[in-house]
Order: sequence, then structure tokens, then C-alpha cells
Amino acid sequence: MDIDVIQRVYRRYAQGYDFYFGALLQPGRKAIIEKMHCRPDDRILEVGVGTGLSLPLYPPGVRVTGIDISREMLARAHVRKTRLHLDHVTALRLMNAESMQFPDDSFDKVVAMYVVSVVPCPARLVSEMRRVCRPGGELFMVNHFRHANQVVGGLERLVAPLSRLLGFHPDFSLENFLQETGLDVAERIPVNVLGYWTLLRARNGKTATGLGASRTAAA
Ligand SMILES: C[S@@+](CC[C@H](N)C(=O)[O-])C[C@H]1O[C@@H](n2cnc3c(N)ncnc32)[C@H](O)[C@@H]1O
Repeated sequence: MDIDVIQRVYRRYAQGYDFYFGALLQPGRKAIIEKMHCRPDDRILEVGVGTGLSLPLYPPGVRVTGIDISREMLARAHVRKTRLHLDHVTALRLMNAESMQFPDDSFDKVVAMYVVSVVPCPARLVSEMRRVCRPGGELFMVNHFRHANQVVGGLERLVAPLSRLLGFHPDFSLENFLQETGLDVAERIPVNVLGYWTLLRARNGKTATGLGASRTAAA
């Protein structure tokens, strides 16, 4: 999926997104924010923040920046921030997470909730997450990955050609993702209904292989 397709799909999703994906995916959002062990003054970047369903879950005192490529999804995040007086949300910006406008090492923690199977190039996304996260910081992701069960995995492969309609890749492989990104995974936890989604916590050593390494080496 290229950026135009993503923007088109999420323009269509924006209005009903919270109804369909709010409660269903909220346990994963809560779990990942708990795992972040946020400290006062932590600089947190959430990429693909969408309608901002996670934003009320952060503790006060942190400074959260959210970015998204969909104007319509982001507009809803703005409304949520204003309506709920979310002062810890310091910025919401329209930006491509695969080529961010932030300087290197701008954040302590960078998180992507249900985004890695949506973007055109997951390795480039992770490379950018690494770049803008300080060395020794942490990267967090929660996502659905292709199911190990043959029947379920087979069904996911069957619907994979519909990804441009669905707005994500249902057969996204965790093994390939880890291989391509070289993520230094410290924790891997099943979350949401039946543990169908996976939470990943990774250290930002900036020493991994793949795109991340080449960007780091070039920096
Ligand atoms: C499945 S939604 C997840 C939204 C939110 N994180 C949540 O927990 O509900 C994926 C989001 O990623 C955004 N997105 C996809 N590709 C992106 C990119 N390259 N840069 C920034 N945002 C992107 C989409 O616009 C959409 O809002």
C-alpha cells in the first residue's frame, strides 16, 4: 500500500474507527502504555496516532507527540485532546512516519500501535523510529502478525489480497519483520482477544542490521 491508498482508506475509516476498533483494541493500548513505565518528563512519540484513542491513557507529566498521515484521523485526535483537556499531549502533527521531520534522538520512547502492518515499508518505519529515539531509549509496537495456526494463517493469506481495502496486511509475518528490522526485542507478549495481537518492547541500541543499520551508519 502506498501513502495515497493509506490516506484514502483512513479517510473512509475515520468516522467509524472508534466504534469498530476502539474497545476491541483498547486492551493492547493499555498494556503497551503500562509497559512503557512512563516517567515524568518522558518525551514520547506515538506514530500513527490515528483518532487518539490511546492519548487519555498516558499518565500526566509526560510529553506526548502524536503524528499521522491521515488528516481526517488526526482531526479526531485534536478534538479528543481539546474535549478531554489532555495537556500532556504537546503536539499532534500531520507527518509521514517513514520520513519524519524530527532531529535524531528527540524522544525517550517511541511507540506504534497497530501501524507496522499498515505502512508501505515497515523497515523504513522502524529505521525512523530508531533514529528519532535516543540511544538507550525504547521502542514499542503492538500489532497483529500472521497466526501460527495453519488454518487461521491460511485464512489470513486468503484475505491478504484485500489489504488495499482493509487498510492493513492481515498476513504480516513477525519473523520477516524481525529479520528485516533487526529489532532487539526484550519482550513479546500476546494481547487483546485470544492473544491474537502481539506487543513488542525493544531496546534502541541503534546497532541493528538492515535499513536501521544503514541509516545509522550514514548518520
Ligand atoms: C490501524 S490505524 C491505528 C491507529 C491508532 N494507533 C490506534 O491505536 O487505533 C493505523 C494508523 O496509521 C496511520 N499511518 C499509516 N501509515 C502511516 C505513515 N506512513 N505515517 C504516519 N501515519 C501512518 C494511518 O493513517 C492510521 O491512522
